[in-house]
Amino acid sequence: MSAAPRAGNEKVTVPDIVSRKSHSPAVFPEGKPKSKITCLTAYDYPTARLLDEAGVDILLVGDSLGMVVLGYDSTLPVTLDDVVHHTRAVRRATRHALIVADMPYGSFHVSLEESVRNAVRLVKEGGAEAVKVEGGERRIELIARLVEAEIPVMGHVGLTPQSINALGGFHVQGKTGDAARQVERDARAVEAAGAFAVVLESTPRELAARITEKLHIPTIGIGAGPDCDGQVLVINDLLGYGTERTPKFVRQYANLSAEITRAVSAYCDDVRSGAFPSDAESYHSAAELREHPQTQAQPAGQRR
Ligand code: KIV
Repeated sequence: MSAAPRAGNEKVTVPDIVSRKSHSPAVFPEGKPKSKITCLTAYDYPTARLLDEAGVDILLVGDSLGMVVLGYDSTLPVTLDDVVHHTRAVRRATRHALIVADMPYGSFHVSLEESVRNAVRLVKEGGAEAVKVEGGERRIELIARLVEAEIPVMGHVGLTPQSINALGGFHVQGKTGDAARQVERDARAVEAAGAFAVVLESTPRELAARITEKLHIPTIGIGAGPDCDGQVLVINDLLGYGTERTPKFVRQYANLSAEITRAVSAYCDDVRSGAFPSDAESYHSAAELREHPQTQAQPAGQRR
């Protein structure tokens, strides 16, 4: 079932997302499948505007911005100020989609008080409607505190890029029996703590399907197969924009890098050859000044 662009002024809310859980008999009494949740990352005004107009349900201001926008090797250097800054741009562009802002590394690792204060900044200053927190069982207390502070939380388990140093790389998680049970415990913990949805990143399809079946909150997959309640991708991967290597789970729907390179090369050629700008792309003096150019010589103060 494909999601059509939204018409009118429908605003996606957290309860809307919760109600899209595909296995909830309360929501689908006839067992009819609901359309899957669409989520994409967004970091700037023009992109967020296009994604919002195209009908994406959730715009995630992910800390992936560190890698795809700011040029870092990992998401670890991203600061809370970075995420606030980009969330504000996305907020200004968005009419319909739910805006979720990532809590970057270091913003929820010191104390519960500081973590809540940081999440409040994402809501108050950034305009986020929910925050995303990486980690499972270890985050129970934090998620509960954020929910208590009226901040909806999206969990994130499986591959958690902020744990790159501990994990030793961006590897698929939950491939062995023990590892799969841990990912499942993490997902259940996040749900029990009060998260409204959970991202499952880089896990075997079968594990993601099992977790999706068992949880009452929607699962949003990235590299977790088609059985999740929704999917998320990094927008630059989907658009082929500035990303050199894309993981196996990415489907590239456009090649903007090639298109930008082509357009910019054509511009440089035209400037160098004098083909740009043309006369039609130039402003012209009033006819009277063209005929009597000496009348253009006015005192500096009078020129505009
Ligand atoms: O930061 C991010 O973009 C994410 C998504 C990949 C889920 O966490």
